[in-house]
Amino acid sequence: MTRLFTEPIAFQEWRRSQGVVGFVPTMGALHAGHEALLRRAKAENPTAIASIFVNPLQFGPHEDWERYPRSLGDDLDRCRRCGIDAVFAPLALPVMTQVQPAPHLVQTLCAPHRPGHFGGVATIVLKLWQLVQPQRAYFGQKDGQQVAILRHLVRDLSLPLALTICPTVRETDGLACSSRNAYLTPAQRAIAPQLYGALQRAVAEFAAGERAAAALCATARQAAPEVTWQYLECVHPLTLSPLTAVESGAMLAGAVFLGDTRLIDNVMLRARQPLVAIDGPAGAGKSTVARRVADRLGLRYFDSGATYRAIAWAALRAGLDLADPGSGEAVGAIAAGVNLDQQPAADLSTRVFVDGEEVTAAIRTPEISRWVSVVAAVPAVRAVLGAQQQAAGRSGGVVMEGRDIGTAIFPQAELKIYLTASVAERAQRRLRDLGETNLDLGAIEAAIRERDERDSTRAIAPLRRAPDAIQIDTDGLSIDRIVEIIVELYRSQTVDPSL
Ligand code: PAF
Repeated sequence: MTRLFTEPIAFQEWRRSQGVVGFVPTMGALHAGHEALLRRAKAENPTAIASIFVNPLQFGPHEDWERYPRSLGDDLDRCRRCGIDAVFAPLALPVMTQVQPAPHLVQTLCAPHRPGHFGGVATIVLKLWQLVQPQRAYFGQKDGQQVAILRHLVRDLSLPLALTICPTVRETDGLACSSRNAYLTPAQRAIAPQLYGALQRAVAEFAAGERAAAALCATARQAAPEVTWQYLECVHPLTLSPLTAVESGAMLAGAVFLGDTRLIDNVMLRARQPLVAIDGPAGAGKSTVARRVADRLGLRYFDSGATYRAIAWAALRAGLDLADPGSGEAVGAIAAGVNLDQQPAADLSTRVFVDGEEVTAAIRTPEISRWVSVVAAVPAVRAVLGAQQQAAGRSGGVVMEGRDIGTAIFPQAELKIYLTASVAERAQRRLRDLGETNLDLGAIEAAIRERDERDSTRAIAPLRRAPDAIQIDTDGLSIDRIVEIIVELYRSQTVDPSL
């Protein structure tokens, strides 16, 4: 049974009786694209809720708010077929407060052509989230700018919900499903697939090696001669900043007019499988998070810290005195001479081998922890291991964690995460990991501070956040939540599977 609520108070009272909720906000006139979101919300949550509200705040004065299609009866039928538990369809949602999207996300694409639109979207979506209190919310990739803005909103305001972004659903001729397709005359409908066709031409040209954004856009425009382009832009998929050349990935997004009807669409341009760089200080939870992210996304995991540990282990075994500042050259020679290997184990951990000998446990001792940052500061060691890391990640498809992956090893990584936590939190975690209660927390904190200082002041590749890395402060966040955030970010950058 699908319940219909039009009054916020009655809806909220019912909501309080529910547990975990998946939520699909809509403006009604539901189509196959919405249906995919509704079905996914139902499949992934005990309770699935949809809202239907044609939000006046996101329409400009001369836009189509009044004539926007309204079809509550049909929409309820569709929700019922998708197993939606409740539809919240308020008659009005008065709000005087306005949410301002992150300014850098409203410089490109639709925003300059629709002033105030995304502020209106963000305001009403935040209001709906407050009323619905979902654990998960579902949106379509078709409005790529809306997706980027809402992701940022969730992160900036630390909202306790996860976004799931679903691929654009298309008609058989490629036209993206949209409530506004109903406005098209038969003649316009026949031309409308040119928009997606144009984007696909750019995808093909990109696959053939073209990297200049201007050339890709020109090709696309030429492929759709009968539509009136409002814009076509190649932007970074997360920051939405314009790109002149596509190094590794981009969102190519456009809006066209057919008569008065405005349609939007986008595709991802991706040169290779993405590489996820996770950097951060010791004890921030990088390895656990990186392993689980790799597992969730079906990517390889590469533990760069383990390679430095393995060299520290090999150097100590060779009898080197690592406290001797003159030992650098000998350590460098060891790094160049040994054969390192890492292999995934069934429990998601990594087995590490030096010249065929397994050192997985041996490199995790406090002794090695003590020396690893000394070894990692040796230029010759960094050169050898850095080259090995680059070779391991060259073709993408890897989650690589360390301290300089996003800054020095793969500055062009598609997704860069800087995972950090306060010293107090990291010390608590270390204490928990060691499973001992009679250790001195103050001493652990001091050791962490010392390690941070060494890592961030070393001459080569010091620990610092890459300017384009997304910082996640993990104090108070569960591992599940951190993994969820990174998986979400990754999914926003992968190629639309419907291509
Ligand atoms: O994508 C939409 O349909 C709308 O922008 C939304 C998210 C329902 C807010 O009104």
